[in-house]
Amino acid sequence: MRSEERTVFISGANRGIGLGMALLMAGKGYTVFAGYREEARAERLFQKAPEDGPVVPVKVDVTRQTDLRGLVDTIASRAGHLDILINSAGINPGKAGGIDSLSLKDFTESFVVNVGGPFLATRYLLPLLKEGREKKVVNITSVMGSIQLSTGDMVPYRVSKAALNMLTKNLAIAYQPYGITVVGLHPGWVRTDMGGPEAPLSVEESVNGSGDPPGRALVQSLRLRTRPMGWVSIGLRGDDGPQAERLRDHLGT
Ligand SMILES: NC(=O)c1ccc[n+]([C@@H]2O[C@H](COP(=O)([O-])OP(=O)(O)OC[C@H]3O[C@@H](n4cnc5c(N)ncnc54)[C@H](OP(=O)(O)O)[C@@H]3O)[C@@H](O)[C@H]2O)c1
Repeated sequence: MRSEERTVFISGANRGIGLGMALLMAGKGYTVFAGYREEARAERLFQKAPEDGPVVPVKVDVTRQTDLRGLVDTIASRAGHLDILINSAGINPGKAGGIDSLSLKDFTESFVVNVGGPFLATRYLLPLLKEGREKKVVNITSVMGSIQLSTGDMVPYRVSKAALNMLTKNLAIAYQPYGITVVGLHPGWVRTDMGGPEAPLSVEESVNGSGDPPGRALVQSLRLRTRPMGWVSIGLRGDDGPQAERLRDHLGT
């Protein structure tokens, strides 16, 4: 049965940006299905998830179809619909090496998780998204997927995020008839295990937009117009120029 609650699933919600979005959205009244892989790496998530609270940890490796089936069952039995899917889980294999030191595995792993993960999660959750009111799929991409802006490092990651952008556009086309909006959001450079200690933004600043200069927050950006609009590559920082302009056009804020 379909409940009245507002629901979101976030992959990779046990740490980093995914956890930040999960906590903020729970505070905004959403029921948050929060993906994690290993309980040992999800201590903070479980601390914030008392039984019957708005944060529901769900064991989901986005490359495992059995996990995704379990996720669908969990959301279907608790809420009967999904308003927003946020594909945040991501990896950056071979990050320290130059292009000559990379292996095929670095490319296949980053592709399977960063592109295959969002593809599979969206496919599995589509029936529940069709039942949702907000009807949004948000792929956490990166400006590092920009061909124009590449500086030549972290190649498998860049290749996978460029591919994710292409996937995002094609999902947007495919799901437009159902009124589902599919977008890619860039969170800024953020201090997480992936972003490292030099990054200018804390997780909180990225997800709620309190950075200096004030960023356009990830979670605020979810207030996208519900009209299907195709793909937008979104820079959330004020310094992202034309991309931020395009975002403003689309946000209607
Ligand atoms: N940090 C930045 O500066 C930055 C900038 C641009 C874009 N992004 C993007 O933002 C997203 C979140 O990044 P982050 O900085 O928060 O990274 P992070 O701190 O390294 O966290 C990565 C998350 O992804 C999860 N994950 C990895 N592989 C998975 C899989 N197969 N199935 C399910 N979950 C998986 C990890 O779970 P485990 O704990 O189990 O490993 C973890 O929860 C990523 O898509 C990243 O590319 C980050």
